[in-house]
Amino acid sequence: MTILVINGPNLNMLGIREPEIYGRETYAELEEYIRRSARELGVDVELFQSNHEGAIVDRIQEAYGKFDGIVINPAAYTHTSIAILDALKAVGLPAVEVHLSDVSRREPFRRRSYVSRACLRTIAGQGFAGYAEALRVLAEHLSANGNK
Ligand code: DQA
Repeated sequence: MTILVINGPNLNMLGIREPEIYGRETYAELEEYIRRSARELGVDVELFQSNHEGAIVDRIQEAYGKFDGIVINPAAYTHTSIAILDALKAVGLPAVEVHLSDVSRREPFRRRSYVSRACLRTIAGQGFAGYAEALRVLAEHLSANGNK
């Protein structure tokens, strides 16, 4: 089982960026956390972070035929990007959406997610643990649906 984990814009600034919202741990620490969680679940992961919408669309398209599922924190593109939604729909891979913060309790513009329409689940407000939960949900879904 091979899962692609995508992180969107400004998540490379974790640790520096609004620590009262996103915490003091860095993006490198998030990567380490995701790799460890995947190992514990027995799934393979590849990590990708980009600040560019088109690069995220490209990476989703390239995942077709190579990955079994996608975990995605589209960051600000969550609330704006029909292109990322369409890319997820185009490849048709099972996907789970993650947000570090509880987007439902922040500014009203963060309440709308385009991407969620192409995702099995949205996990928000659990910090790093949300990624472990997303991997677990995806692995369970893939096993139940006859994946490796
Ligand atoms: C975020 C929430 C988004 O609203 C925001 O633009 C981000 C991060 C989160 O992980 O909580 O960049 O996706």
